[in-house]
Amino acid sequence: MKHFLLFIGSLLLILVLACAEDPLQQEVMDPFDELHLPSTLFNYANLDLPSYLTANEFPPQFQFQSLIEYDNTPANNPVSDEGATLGRVLFYDKKLSANGTVACASCHQANHGFSDPNKLSEGFDGQLTRRHSMSIVNATYYPTGRFFWDERAETLEQQVLLPFQDEIEMGLTLEELITIISEQPYYPILFEEAFGDQTITSDRIGKALAQFIRSMVSTTSVYDQARQEVNSPVVDFPSFTSLQNQGKRLFFVPRSLTNGINGNCAGCHQTEAFVGPLPNFPGQLSTFATSNGLDLLSTNDLGVGESTNNPNDNGKFKVPSLKNIGVRAPYMHDGRFTSLEEVVEHYSSGIQNHPNLISPLVNDEGEVGQFNFTAAEKEALVAFLHTLTDTEMLTDEKYSNPFK
Ligand code: HEC
Ligand code: HEC
Repeated sequence: MKHFLLFIGSLLLILVLACAEDPLQQEVMDPFDELHLPSTLFNYANLDLPSYLTANEFPPQFQFQSLIEYDNTPANNPVSDEGATLGRVLFYDKKLSANGTVACASCHQANHGFSDPNKLSEGFDGQLTRRHSMSIVNATYYPTGRFFWDERAETLEQQVLLPFQDEIEMGLTLEELITIISEQPYYPILFEEAFGDQTITSDRIGKALAQFIRSMVSTTSVYDQARQEVNSPVVDFPSFTSLQNQGKRLFFVPRSLTNGINGNCAGCHQTEAFVGPLPNFPGQLSTFATSNGLDLLSTNDLGVGESTNNPNDNGKFKVPSLKNIGVRAPYMHDGRFTSLEEVVEHYSSGIQNHPNLISPLVNDEGEVGQFNFTAAEKEALVAFLHTLTDTEMLTDEKYSNPFK
């Protein structure tokens, strides 16, 4: 009887242990336990681009080429579905910061157009970044391929490794980064799928993140949907309201500024990806970043001048694509404007005569030019800017947080 009880007791013990061990074992066995990835990969590599992103459908006076001429994808890093999938996981992984609290996505939030609603962003230990976070949508089409407001990163592949090593943002060394990545069960497989074997290097981390970011092309905003119905950006869109069409005209069609020079928004926010100025006059400028006259003088932030050491570049800043601008407040490199109304007021009456302004914002006599919009025009321009919001893209699962 005693033995029998002992036997039953041991059986129970084994049963309890087996049950307790079971979920533990599962966790060890499924490397993707923390992640929610699709069984068939999302399509990142073969984006179905509308004709106006592959050919220039502007009238000839708009002096830029078709957008694909400006694609900054290097030959050694084309986007693949596997590479961008790895990039997506890296982008959302908070473990990749000094105290495990901050991911790229903390400061590049999808619902804010992959930017940050805060004027300056909080890094891993609560310190603030020097500048306002930038949107990363349509980054593919910035022709010089240089990144940051001051263009200090030469390529996207180089840029994406810098936030990890930034003392305020993520606070790691590349060695520490590689160690943390190697310790996670899901990365070896993701690296193998993306690059053919499980080796984890900073070069591969940079490539995968760059692929994910380059796959973020906006083609489904209200603007894009209305644009499908016509074959030129400068005719009225049948499905736009009259206010939106008026705003679109104000954006694209040059008008006489207060200094007598003709200027338009599209002169600096170019193509239908609405990216920063393209190289119309190659060789003449050391950068395609420019000044929009925010300040009379540059004092605490010299912009591109800080990376080129050329005083002619002081006060020049790169501008990211205006897609999703309606959900990206606050605005400018220092987040000084809290609304689109303030931005439009700046162009209407507030442009400062900075020494590095270029035409049309300054004429040959050195006179600054304001757009001088009426109240109705300001309202129309803001209404147009809101059509650039691409909710479908910003809520697309393939760009969303894959962590459970
Ligand atoms: C703590 C906030 C923060 C984190 C974390 C962060 N960023 Fe940023 N990001 C910024 C700020 C601020 C800027 C602008 C900095 C500047 O220009 O000096 C920026 C700029 C960029 C740009 C330049 C866009 C352009 O058009 O030039 C890219 C790309 C980018 N970040 C990607 C990333 C990636 C990838 C990660 C993760 C590895 C990351 N960021 C992590 C705040 C952050
Ligand atoms: C001479 C070139 C130029 C012209 C003309 C111009 N912009 Fe800009 N725009 C810029 C630059 C450069 C920046 C970034 C400046 C900075 O942050 O220092 C910018 C920034 C912006 C931003 C904020 C972007 C962000 O990510 O915060 C908006 C919105 C904008 N411009 C709209 C317009 C509108 C609307 C017009 C026409 C009324 C216009 N721009 C005309 C060069 C120009």
